[in-house]
Amino acid sequence: MKVNKIPAEERIIFPLDVSSSEEAFFWIERLNPFVGIFKIGLELFTSEGPKVIEKVRKKTDKKIFLDLKLNDIPNTISRTIKIISELGVDWVTIHVLAGASALKKASECAYNNLKLIGVTVLTSLDKADLLELGFNAELARDPKELVFRLAFLAYFSGCDGVVCSAKEVGKIKENFPELITVVPGIKLSEELGRVDDQLRTATPYEAILSGADYLVIGRPIREAEFPEKICEEIIFQIKKALEEKND
Ligand code: C5P
Repeated sequence: MKVNKIPAEERIIFPLDVSSSEEAFFWIERLNPFVGIFKIGLELFTSEGPKVIEKVRKKTDKKIFLDLKLNDIPNTISRTIKIISELGVDWVTIHVLAGASALKKASECAYNNLKLIGVTVLTSLDKADLLELGFNAELARDPKELVFRLAFLAYFSGCDGVVCSAKEVGKIKENFPELITVVPGIKLSEELGRVDDQLRTATPYEAILSGADYLVIGRPIREAEFPEKICEEIIFQIKKALEEKND
């Protein structure tokens, strides 16, 4: 399916940021009608091991996104991607900072329809963090430039998509329309001023309007009194943005 034809609910990625399969199943059962993709990240994968993927697969027919944010030398990456290709997941993440040859190796080694999603700059990092990491002042001043540079590298190294913030997604989508754009750091409007570790944030409406194909939304759903109602609000915002974009 072309990315601009994806229905609103299928664009929500819910991170199973929990440490046991029981908790993961609780959320899968509860949110299955409202989201398109379940994300297994480092916490659940580390506590339960790869067998958790098969267990999750038995509970849902939704896509599974293995968010391991791989970052290693090309040889290790390619051997690992072959193993991940056998696990039955739909997407996996790799840090673009692993470099072009690791990304190319990864895309050559992926099979079973595994899509490779490149992580650009974590949405928890701001200008001060980037300067501290040694990025030059020009790139750190506006993460947009750095993120675009990394998205460019991801695209030309064979990645199917990138993770970036809503602030950077517009330029990426304009230049590489077929690259899947995954945007975390989503807040519902009343939470935008709240301080936590996500620094480059936007509402679902703003993110989709800016060019996001998929949204990673965890805490705003998980910590809500009525998570299903929040999902409905998110779907409403996504639909509104899609209508405005005329998609
Ligand atoms: O919505 P919330 O902030 O709770 O989402 C957290 C999730 O987003 C975590 O699973 C984290 O790994 C993911 N994330 C990401 N890429 C980023 C920032 C967060 O995949 N740049």
